[in-house]
Amino acid sequence: MDSPPLLIEDFGQKVDLTRRIREVLLNYPEGTTVLKEIIQNADDAGASSVRLCLDRRSHPSHSLLSPSLSHFQGPSLLAFNDAVFTDDDFISISRIGGSTKHSQASKTGRFGVGFNSVYHLTDLPSFVSGKYVVLFDPQGAYLPHVSSANPGKRIDFVSSSAISAYNDQFSPYCAFGCDMKTPFNGTLFRFPLRNAGQAAASKLSRQAYLEDDISSMFTQLYEEGVLTLLFLKCVSCIEMYIWDAGEFEPRKLYSCSN
Ligand SMILES: Nc1ncnc2c1ncn2[C@@H]1O[C@H](COP(=O)(O)OP(=O)(O)O)[C@@H](O)[C@H]1O
Ligand SMILES: [Mg+2]
Repeated sequence: MDSPPLLIEDFGQKVDLTRRIREVLLNYPEGTTVLKEIIQNADDAGASSVRLCLDRRSHPSHSLLSPSLSHFQGPSLLAFNDAVFTDDDFISISRIGGSTKHSQASKTGRFGVGFNSVYHLTDLPSFVSGKYVVLFDPQGAYLPHVSSANPGKRIDFVSSSAISAYNDQFSPYCAFGCDMKTPFNGTLFRFPLRNAGQAAASKLSRQAYLEDDISSMFTQLYEEGVLTLLFLKCVSCIEMYIWDAGEFEPRKLYSCSN
């Protein structure tokens, strides 16, 4: 006689991503620490130049990947560096606490959590590097076909001509040499600032960020003497910009170099 088929269910241990991020934020102070983590990661990646920009523009919402992404077309922090993500970097950033830098003594990052301090500022961090744009949505709430089991997307924007179909989605990344048509020889993060409405509903942080908060962080970072403070190995120039509504390009506020 045939025995009945085994009843095997999915039953693994899982971490709740939003809870894990809240824990990370408890252990990372707000303010310039977030900017320092971004600069440190650029340095580990071998970048020589970092540019931070408070983008005060609001972008249109007619051609987005999904209607709910319209909440993220407002002011943002942009962070550029001139190093491109390796395959390992893409793997590493998609884990929390799983840095692939462990074995590399020359790198400062170790624990694979520092990047996640950006969740102080935003509910939807994203970046362009090489031919890819990546968007993280830990709440599984905003991206198309997203879920808590699969909380982000990576898009090859070059071969899919993404910008022609979704201009409003991707034109905000056109800055610091990134044109969203050809592979970008650098990395540009975009962190749309968490506004009061998002803060009221966010499972990540109840803290809203205003444009003035970012300006103050820039001033503080400059006054702290960021270049000497961080013992950087590769980064020799850090610039801070502001991009006002209606302007074609950002305006430089501070420049630190050695
Ligand atoms: N600017 C960057 N360029 C290349 N890779 C990056 C950059 N920022 C983050 N990463 C990738 O994301 C991973 C996670 O960053 P982080 O959470 O700060 O951990 P850690 O620096 O301890 O490895 C890094 O190990 C790296 O692979
Ligand atoms: Mg790091």
